[in-house]
Amino acid sequence: MARIKYIAGNWKMNKLSGEAVALAQGIVKEAGNFDCKIMIAPPFTALCEVGKVVKGTNVLLGAQNMSNKVSGAYTGEVSPEMLKDLGVSVVILGHSERRGYYGETDEFINSKIKLALEQGLDVILCVGETLAQREAGKAADVVTSQVQNGLKDISECALEHITIAYEPVWAIGTGKTATAQDADAIHKVIREKLASLYSADAAEKMIIQYGGSMKPENAAGLLAMPNIDGGLIGGAALKADSFVALLKCTK
Ligand code: 13P
Repeated sequence: MARIKYIAGNWKMNKLSGEAVALAQGIVKEAGNFDCKIMIAPPFTALCEVGKVVKGTNVLLGAQNMSNKVSGAYTGEVSPEMLKDLGVSVVILGHSERRGYYGETDEFINSKIKLALEQGLDVILCVGETLAQREAGKAADVVTSQVQNGLKDISECALEHITIAYEPVWAIGTGKTATAQDADAIHKVIREKLASLYSADAAEKMIIQYGGSMKPENAAGLLAMPNIDGGLIGGAALKADSFVALLKCTK
């Protein structure tokens, strides 16, 4: 079974509203030429305006984070309903910057994933090892335990709403990309873990993106690997030209 390619842009804490609209317009203009799945995740402050630009197009609107609560006295948090209200259909959870800088644990991430699914949002679950963990030979163990704990108590039928993004922390924003072979090896380990947690069929269907200094120059090689089904892109998603060049690499 051929899995569809999925290219997603994580804009992180970049772009004021006007800049975000211009970038989204540049992407939307070209996106219709591609069959792959496409998502862009602007900062919360630009979701409303970018939502208007992507409405009715083949570009999905994503959020970079979400509260694990439905509503109430949670100062500074953004609920799943608030996101849906703006047209968001996908939420990125467990990004290494949330884990590393804001102390998000597997358990906390799991609670957000469950709430997102209950609320009808699709999820990109990010996993990845640090350089120290890789050098200690623990990359596969770290990543499989993040997958297992992140998906705790999530049923097989919910998996169609989940994408996994393997983002080695040492490759994010550093210009150092995992080689296509090294990345594919971890994607394969993730797929095998999913087969053991669920079924071979579920594992085969799962879209697993690579993230970490992915750019037009290296994307074709990564995307040609058997277990790499797309990309979660940071820096190269901040310009329409380079994001569209990445979409071309899916052809
Ligand atoms: P870069 O593409 O800037 O390395 O970021 C990857 C990432 O963290 C996407 O979520």
